[in-house]
Amino acid sequence: MKQESHVKREGFSSSIGVIAAVLGSAVGLGNIWKFPYVTGANGGAAFILVYLLCLALVGLPVMLSEHLIGRATKSNAVTAFKKLEPRRPWFLVGGAGVVSAFLIMAFYTTVSGWVYAYIFKSASGALLTTKPQETTQVFNSLVSGVGEPLFWQVFVLIVIGIIIMAGVTKGIERATKFLMPMLFILLIIIDIRSLTLPGASAGLSFLFKPDFSKITVSAVLAALGLAFFKLSVGMGAMITYGSYVDDRENLPKMAIKVALSDTLVSLMAGVAIFPAVFAFGFKPDAGPKLLFIIIPTVFNSMPLGRIFMVLFFLLTAFAATGAMLSLLEVPIAYLTEEYQWSRRRATLLTIIGIGLLGSTATLSNSLLSHVLLFGKTFFDFFDFATSNVLLPLGGIFIALFVGWQWNFANVKREMTNEGQLANEGLFNVYMFLVRFIVPIAIIIVLLTGLNFIHV
Ligand code: PHE
Repeated sequence: MKQESHVKREGFSSSIGVIAAVLGSAVGLGNIWKFPYVTGANGGAAFILVYLLCLALVGLPVMLSEHLIGRATKSNAVTAFKKLEPRRPWFLVGGAGVVSAFLIMAFYTTVSGWVYAYIFKSASGALLTTKPQETTQVFNSLVSGVGEPLFWQVFVLIVIGIIIMAGVTKGIERATKFLMPMLFILLIIIDIRSLTLPGASAGLSFLFKPDFSKITVSAVLAALGLAFFKLSVGMGAMITYGSYVDDRENLPKMAIKVALSDTLVSLMAGVAIFPAVFAFGFKPDAGPKLLFIIIPTVFNSMPLGRIFMVLFFLLTAFAATGAMLSLLEVPIAYLTEEYQWSRRRATLLTIIGIGLLGSTATLSNSLLSHVLLFGKTFFDFFDFATSNVLLPLGGIFIALFVGWQWNFANVKREMTNEGQLANEGLFNVYMFLVRFIVPIAIIIVLLTGLNFIHV
């Protein structure tokens, strides 16, 4: 069923632009900041294997499901479900996605603020040291401040607000097409430096030699959560971006390409960080500050390190910005299409809302460090509640919707571009995954990981 929207909608203009934008959403702080520190905290290689399994069997099918729903309806995450199934409350899944977008943005803008600040700190020479103790100090003094981290968070919000207001697609598409290759090149350069540090091999075996005794129930939940967060799935960002994708695009192929490239970027970030962690005698389980204390030490031990460090944080900032555009687009598409708000109004109010909520995450390292929700600071709570609960829950419902609710023949038509693509075998595998594997795997991991079932 194809339905045309009454409002003229923008869309991505070329295949390469679509890949760039979707990859631009997937690649972000998740690869460069989160993947290394979560891997570090959960024991390394064995965790990565579990993560890859979650990615292939759960994350990827959910991503394809979102693209199918989005492209078939050409609608925001809420309206999409209403169009496909007007009689049942599936639209609540889209509504939960809008809420998740706010919660993710709350802590994502905090970390993006740190990254923006680091561009200037590395340029000014404040980070010119190879001692992790000193880089730790620089980091702590930034995040335990009040005015400085808030300033950067607001700065980030203004930047993405301006881009989103200007209209998405031209901006996003053009920017990401240029930025993604740049990020790759820079990662290759720091990988080479990191690998040639004396003592790098300990980092490599941490990253690639699995020790399965490190796998705990909570590590499996973290791996699943990371898979959702990484691929930007479970909250409608991929429904929204899917709605801008041309009808001739090969959706399964695109999802696979994006997941593979995204994983490559994460592994490259791991190779950039872990050899240096071990070479400089640091522990891999430093948590969210890992990137900020290790990366400066790597750059400072190479020629022209200062320039490369500035470039690195600049590109990380761009990657984070690309991901935030897709997060922000979820409520914006919803508010403009469902309530006919102007793009300007929707953006302004959303940004203000995120700023208010996000300031609690930013201040959770200072003024609000004693305020705990379920035993976690605001920052940790937003992170945990979205990655490890809301996104997987969203994933279950999205998979169930495509697998059991949406008319089988229509799903097939959307996936094969009205029968023009011959991917029968792939379709059957996909259907099996979304009907059975995805919901069952998520339920088991959620129930055990959140301690409802003890193993
Ligand atoms: N995938 C992004 C990252 O890895 C984060 C993200 C999550 C973006 C959900 C959009 C939606 O940084």
